[in-house]
Amino acid sequence: MNFHVMTLFPEMIESAVNCSILGKAIERNIISVSAVNIRDYTLDKHKKVDDYTYGGGAGMLMAPQPIYDCHKAITERISGEKKIRTVYVTPQGRVFDQNLAKELSAEEDIIFLCGHYEGIDERVLEEVVTDYVSIGDYVLTGGELPALVMMDCISRLIPGVLSNEESAQTESFDDGLLEYPQYTRPEVWMDKRVPDVLLSGHHANIEKWRHDMSLERTKQRRPDLYEIYAYKNRKD
Ligand code: ADE
Repeated sequence: MNFHVMTLFPEMIESAVNCSILGKAIERNIISVSAVNIRDYTLDKHKKVDDYTYGGGAGMLMAPQPIYDCHKAITERISGEKKIRTVYVTPQGRVFDQNLAKELSAEEDIIFLCGHYEGIDERVLEEVVTDYVSIGDYVLTGGELPALVMMDCISRLIPGVLSNEESAQTESFDDGLLEYPQYTRPEVWMDKRVPDVLLSGHHANIEKWRHDMSLERTKQRRPDLYEIYAYKNRKD
């Protein structure tokens, strides 16, 4: 998987991806992340990338030319014909979730477009964007953090990024439910005992307990997800 991030702050992307699991995956050539500075593509002699909005209003808008040329340079470098998935990271998009992460993890290349200021001229969005994606119903100062969140989530679904042990683990959202509670040593801590069933060695009982706890936890903490799960698993 090759991620290409169009941004005005490439150092924000570079400093975050070179750590931890993503850093290792890059070293091992399983993924690559290239942060491309949109400002390098402006034809303005003062290197300007933004301008006032037509119709008035506060704030500046990112102009179309540098973004279009930056996108063109990336796509020409990657492919010939093939349309590259281009994600504009925006609070106005579809909300990112595990299903979208799975879908995107099948791509060979993904371009993220990170906005700043008050947004981006609509015409260039119409030209280059294939997906409008938000990470939640709140507003951040720019698209870099959301792009990093999405790259992290997508990367861990790519074979080889996590160790076998890590990826074999069941986890939240696997089947639309939150993960059950887990315990390690000691058996008693602050007068709280690890549930007996987990010490029993009885695998079928442990599985059943974990499933019941997942259901209970999802019902309590995420009733919206529980409703979907219950509907999908209804017995008519
Ligand atoms: N840019 C600003 N806020 C955002 C959000 N919540 N999701 C994606 N991009 C954003």
